[in-house]
Amino acid sequence: MKAVILVGGLGSRLRPLTTTIPKPMLPLLNRPFIATVLAHLRRYGVNEVILSTGYLPEVFTDFLAETRAMGMSVEVVTEDRPLGTCGAVKNVADRLDETFLVLNGDILTDINLTNLIDYHRQKGAVATISLTAVEDPTSYGLVPLERDGRVSSFVEKPSWDEATTDLINAGTYVLEPEVLAHAPLGENYSFERGLFPYLLDEDMKVYGFPASSYWLDIGTPEKFIRAHKDLLEGKLPFDFTGTEIKSRVWVGEGTTVDQNALLYGPVVMGDNCTIESNAVIIGPTSLGDGCHVSAGARVEGAICFSDCRLQSGAVVRNSVLGRGVDVGKQVHIDDFAVLGDNLVIGEGNWLRRGIKVAPGSTLEPGTIRF
Ligand code: GTP
Repeated sequence: MKAVILVGGLGSRLRPLTTTIPKPMLPLLNRPFIATVLAHLRRYGVNEVILSTGYLPEVFTDFLAETRAMGMSVEVVTEDRPLGTCGAVKNVADRLDETFLVLNGDILTDINLTNLIDYHRQKGAVATISLTAVEDPTSYGLVPLERDGRVSSFVEKPSWDEATTDLINAGTYVLEPEVLAHAPLGENYSFERGLFPYLLDEDMKVYGFPASSYWLDIGTPEKFIRAHKDLLEGKLPFDFTGTEIKSRVWVGEGTTVDQNALLYGPVVMGDNCTIESNAVIIGPTSLGDGCHVSAGARVEGAICFSDCRLQSGAVVRNSVLGRGVDVGKQVHIDDFAVLGDNLVIGEGNWLRRGIKVAPGSTLEPGTIRF
């Protein structure tokens, strides 16, 4: 079976990280997020994939050699302008002549695809939407079902008294190719507000598949950090590479950890990192290749992409640092701060409470105490 993965969005809620890297290519434990999605597909025997791109497509093309090494056949198809979730699939309809999967490229899940596909076939559905239960349904589109699992309606962002179910669209679909005949070609058109409600109005068989599997949309800084923590804490399968130097601490090649550094797993470090004496690293934490944590610096529950440098007394907690960020002495970064690539943060700055800093800038010492 083929799968189309939608990866053309701007990822605006994850800026500035997505200024140079599209959301599905952001590193997740030092591997592009999409590699985890592909590994999930491969576990269920889905090896043929179309990546539907629009934003920064060359970043996906550069990744193709790696997908070949994974034994997958991946084609990148790029839109001239955003076609929306369904329009993007309509755009590749000529390659889809039997039942196929569609996946939003920003969902971390271990949904059982065999069960999903079997359910679709048993029901004789033209479209089956995977569903997940959420605690607060009022900020999502809800998908109430009839007793046999058929979708009864779509309810956009209901108030609490209108919320008759807690099931939302989980962004994985099984579709029959014929449904694409109902989507306009070359126009921006969505599954959620366009094709699925249309199929329902036409009384076609649209089913919902409630799944109790792990599910997370990685689209905000909080959820991006959550995805790292959940993988590091073993909530879903992940193929950790590197050497496990102590319990749940994995390091890549050429990484040196001083024997007086304090490490509390789960922690993943890439290649060629240097962890000095009396540096403290508390998991769940992920450091990319070439990171340097100086004596007396502390990292806790944080994500640093490659080549970040933390000077002594710096503290980074619950935050994400892009590539090549230089964190000066006594800098405090906390509370879901998101820092773009190649920043230089001078001594004594405090960056907290969801602050976002654009790539490439320099903060003079003591400028921000947020
Ligand atoms: P935000 O800008 O933060 O809302 O993120 P996004 O637009 O990248 O993601 P959103 O959650 O809105 O979209 C869900 C998935 O569909 C993501 O994997 C997007 O990459 C993808 N997507 C959204 N719009 C398009 C589109 O017009 N074309 C293609 N090919 N993919 C899309």
